[in-house]
Amino acid sequence: MIRIAPSVLSADFARLGDQVAQAEEAGADWIHVDVMDGRFVPNLTIGPVVVEAIRRYTQLPLDVHLMVADPDPLIRPFRESGADRISVHVEACPHLHRTLARIRDLGASPGVALNPHTPPEAVEWVLADVDTVVVMTVDPGFGGQAFLAGMLDKVRRIRALRGARGATFELEVDGGVDARTAPLAVEAGATVLVAGHSVYQHPEGIAAGLAALRNAVSAARPTRA
Ligand code: DX5
Ligand code: ZN
Repeated sequence: MIRIAPSVLSADFARLGDQVAQAEEAGADWIHVDVMDGRFVPNLTIGPVVVEAIRRYTQLPLDVHLMVADPDPLIRPFRESGADRISVHVEACPHLHRTLARIRDLGASPGVALNPHTPPEAVEWVLADVDTVVVMTVDPGFGGQAFLAGMLDKVRRIRALRGARGATFELEVDGGVDARTAPLAVEAGATVLVAGHSVYQHPEGIAAGLAALRNAVSAARPTRA
């Protein structure tokens, strides 16, 4: 089963509660929340108070993606605000194993994200400690960017590692996912599709954006190497 996680980064921030509820109503699986600190990435977005506000509008798992230079002090505040899944960037964590353990100890599902230039081997020794690996298919920082097709090979390599280890972590792709690129990601082995622009900026609305993605991946299956 392929999960779709609309990213509220492309939603109308003046009506966030309603926009999250609409995505749930339209069949979203998780809600993806992009946290940016203006240091790790050149943009500034959402803090724990916003997650707490969103939490009241949906029962769906909140998938919080921390694009911050120093995630450790933020894990507890985001968890207490209602984050169910918390992903940190391997590039931002000198003690990644400890950071992932902290997320799990607080009762959330840990995830690790990789920037486009980061090789899959960078997360090889934490694959037993995560519930999600997030392959960035854009340079993080902004919604609405073009999908980096070169990352499909990284998705395939991580999917192969997952199979070799008998692991069950979700393999999430984040950035530039739309009805054209979503099947490519699924064929490469993705299990979760983050989609901001293609859901929240769809010309016919949120439900139509989600339906287009579902339809696009309905026949797609991971291609075995
Ligand atoms: C990129 C973020 C993504 C982004 C995806 O920095 O991590 O989650 O919102 O948005 P789209 O789907 O518009 O590329
Ligand atoms: Zn994200």
